[in-house]
Amino acid sequence: MALILCLWAAYLVSLVAAAIGPIDTSTPSMPGGKVTSAAPPGPFFQDFKPPFPTTGWWVGYAAAPSQNSVVAGPYPYMSCALDTGFQFGISNTRNFDGTSIIQTTQMDWEASYVQNPNTHTSHKATAWDTQSVTIKYFASNGAGFTTYAVPGSPYITLNYNAATILLTSKNGNIVSINGNTIGTSSVTASGTKFIINGPGGTYTLYSLGESTSQAILDQYSANYPTSVALDYTFSGDTATMSFTWNVVGNAANLLHLSWPHHRSGLKRLVNPNLVTGLSYLTTKGYMKPVLGNVWHLSYALPTITWLPPRVPQASCTSQIIQALQYEVAHLTVAVPGDFYFWGKEFQAMARLALIAEHVGRTDLIPAVVSILEQSIAGWNATSGATYAAYETAWGGVVDGPGATDPNIDFGNGYYNDHHFHYGYLLHGAAVIARYDSAWWNANKKFITAFARDIGNPSTADPFFTIARNRDWFAGHSWASGIANGAGSRDEESSGEAMNAYYGLILFADILGNADFKNWARLLWATEADGAQTYWHLYPNVNDPDTPYPEQGLRNLVTIGNVMDYQAGAWLFWGAQRSEIAAIQILPVTPINEGLYDTTWITSVWSYVAAEMVDPTVGDEWKAVIQMAYGEVSPQTAFSRSTNITGWGGTTSQAYLLYHLATRKNSGGGNICTATATNPSGNFTLKASNGKFVTSTAAAPNLVANGSTGTRFTLAYMPGGGSIFNTVNSQYVTADPNAAVPLTAARAVASAWENFKIVQQSDGTYVILAGNNVEYITLDSTGALVNSAATISAATKFTLVAQ
Ligand SMILES: *[C@@H]1O[C@H](CO)[C@@H](O)[C@H](O)[C@H]1NC(C)=O
Ligand SMILES: *[C@@H]1O[C@H](CO)[C@@H](O)[C@H](O)[C@H]1NC(C)=O
Ligand SMILES: *[C@@H]1O[C@H](CO)[C@@H](O)[C@H](O)[C@H]1NC(C)=O
Ligand SMILES: *[C@@H]1O[C@H](CO)[C@@H](O)[C@H](O)[C@H]1NC(C)=O
Repeated sequence: MALILCLWAAYLVSLVAAAIGPIDTSTPSMPGGKVTSAAPPGPFFQDFKPPFPTTGWWVGYAAAPSQNSVVAGPYPYMSCALDTGFQFGISNTRNFDGTSIIQTTQMDWEASYVQNPNTHTSHKATAWDTQSVTIKYFASNGAGFTTYAVPGSPYITLNYNAATILLTSKNGNIVSINGNTIGTSSVTASGTKFIINGPGGTYTLYSLGESTSQAILDQYSANYPTSVALDYTFSGDTATMSFTWNVVGNAANLLHLSWPHHRSGLKRLVNPNLVTGLSYLTTKGYMKPVLGNVWHLSYALPTITWLPPRVPQASCTSQIIQALQYEVAHLTVAVPGDFYFWGKEFQAMARLALIAEHVGRTDLIPAVVSILEQSIAGWNATSGATYAAYETAWGGVVDGPGATDPNIDFGNGYYNDHHFHYGYLLHGAAVIARYDSAWWNANKKFITAFARDIGNPSTADPFFTIARNRDWFAGHSWASGIANGAGSRDEESSGEAMNAYYGLILFADILGNADFKNWARLLWATEADGAQTYWHLYPNVNDPDTPYPEQGLRNLVTIGNVMDYQAGAWLFWGAQRSEIAAIQILPVTPINEGLYDTTWITSVWSYVAAEMVDPTVGDEWKAVIQMAYGEVSPQTAFSRSTNITGWGGTTSQAYLLYHLATRKNSGGGNICTATATNPSGNFTLKASNGKFVTSTAAAPNLVANGSTGTRFTLAYMPGGGSIFNTVNSQYVTADPNAAVPLTAARAVASAWENFKIVQQSDGTYVILAGNNVEYITLDSTGALVNSAATISAATKFTLVAQ
């Protein structure tokens, strides 16, 4: 037994090394030094040193406090490595509750042995790879058993040694053994009932839904997988990813279960050797068997790197440049409070430099790069509320204070969301490096540590686990780390997961490492395939291999959260349709254009239609959905985006216009049309009641009650313009609920200080508040309020130049 495991381990290492080597093996030297997790791994890893996986499906076997989490896997099983034994079961209850499909957790059996010491230290990992883990239960006298937790195997294999086998039914009493009715809830057995074969040999437990399946399982039960090697080859813009299972028995007769994304990946090369007559309905749809221990899955790699493959259409360039100049002039240093929100802003600012390059305004780039450098320098801190440090118990780069507090930075220190966080950082850092090689040379090691954290390709890197967030069998990444015992896995933002690997592609391009860039492209391509298969829903596509046979679920157009035991159209943080869709879309970047496929984005567009004209729904969600709709019709997206005044963290007006201006535009024609711009200059405003608008430092509300008026400066801002009170030097702001009058009380102008001032045929103007898309009218006291739904209900103003 030991000999077999040993041979396998050597085999794995050589295969991975044959693929891609590490990008760096040096000790990460982070500004914040080293920190230690308050939730270090348990004795499951007693024979090993870090780095350890933190995000894979089976981390709950190892995580604090008790190593006893139920994990969803190895699919089709769910399992739990308790001190008392290894519990497992196949969920045969699937519910659709109108929002989610839920595979109820079910433990059918506990495998143990009479001599089990039942302590935390009497079971452990003996080996793992990118998909599977080998678990050994052992007693000091050598008794025990080994099980191979290999996703996709219909068999749970229990390899007993010198032990008295104890199999306990966890899901009701055993009714009979070999047809002999029994009356106890547990049984000590060394016989062959439940298809458990004799002592000293291999023990296989079958849990069968249908008797016809039993013949298939019987036929192949002599062959079982113990581990799996990941490999990949690249040919131009195509990748072939291979899974090779190490098999006891006849490798060609390995019966292994596939999910829908496996079957499409396999079919792109050759028709897989599918075995019919056996299937298991799981969260990701039907698992169906494929014969043979080697799978080759084919993926088209993304070809877009920095910029979209089209120049911005001329109809848009003047508007892009106008917005870009404003945005660059108003950039401020993003001071890190966390990796997530900071990262979004950092990447969005960085894209402005690339837009400036693409529209020929390279003069604007240095200002952007300077702000980016000052922003990322916030992570150069050695202490404080946020600093970058290396965590030693699991092995990874974290937000230092978070190593002992899961409530900091979305649990970053507990290894949550690293791909989301560091994708944004890598993207922005790569942009700096593109324009400032001196900065890159000074910070290459620092930035590389983040790339190693989420994108390390090799076991030869002694400091980082391989591709931390990626679950290679599930076909996508998980966001969940080690918090809460590392129980169920989830991922809410397929868009940000892809952005992680986009950041890695840009980083690889700067690094000039073509192999690593291919690896990053493979990560992106597989993540995109996972998003399209498991997050995007196609109500009108009749695919017999859909992961979600429930039409009611597919009618919800987009999954919000794929978890390991459930998937549904919901989020932890928001219930609006546009939020659920937008978080699968953002950040909008050039590489994603293939992801926003016409069929999906068209159904998203109708699904969110009512919310898109609802002022209470955030502009930041509307903006990204409009940008994605640019794949279908950039003209429609443009015209619908004209009353956006807030862009959230991931985009901006220049970014939105530029994105639409670089779409395929298959219908042809101008994408952008001239939009009326606000008048600019110094004015007093005379309302249709014959009075001038006044606002003072003592009484800053805007009231049309004066015989002379306050002098306001009207100026362009993206999406409209600002109204600046020259008397108290404050910008006029509008309440989104129109509960109080307009008031001059803001030092800087952003979404609530954004107005459209539109001239009417009689020469007067109406004013539209950007935040609630309502016109300004006067209340009974003459105060200006943004509560008129129509132009006819709006107050007309005469602008008197000063
Ligand atoms: C961190 O500080 C060092 C030393 O001053 C400097 O060379 C480096 O550029 C800084 N790194 C960042 C990311 O600002
Ligand atoms: C915003 O603009 C579009 C047209 O461009 C319009 O149909 C929509 O009703 C406007 N209002 C809101 C609140 O979105
Ligand atoms: C508006 O007035 C301010 C002083 O209040 C002045 O600095 C500025 O130049 C004026 N702008 C225009 C366009 O006249
Ligand atoms: C206009 O209204 C404001 C706010 O109520 C008040 O402070 C101001 O005195 C009024 N001005 C005139 C001329 O009535």
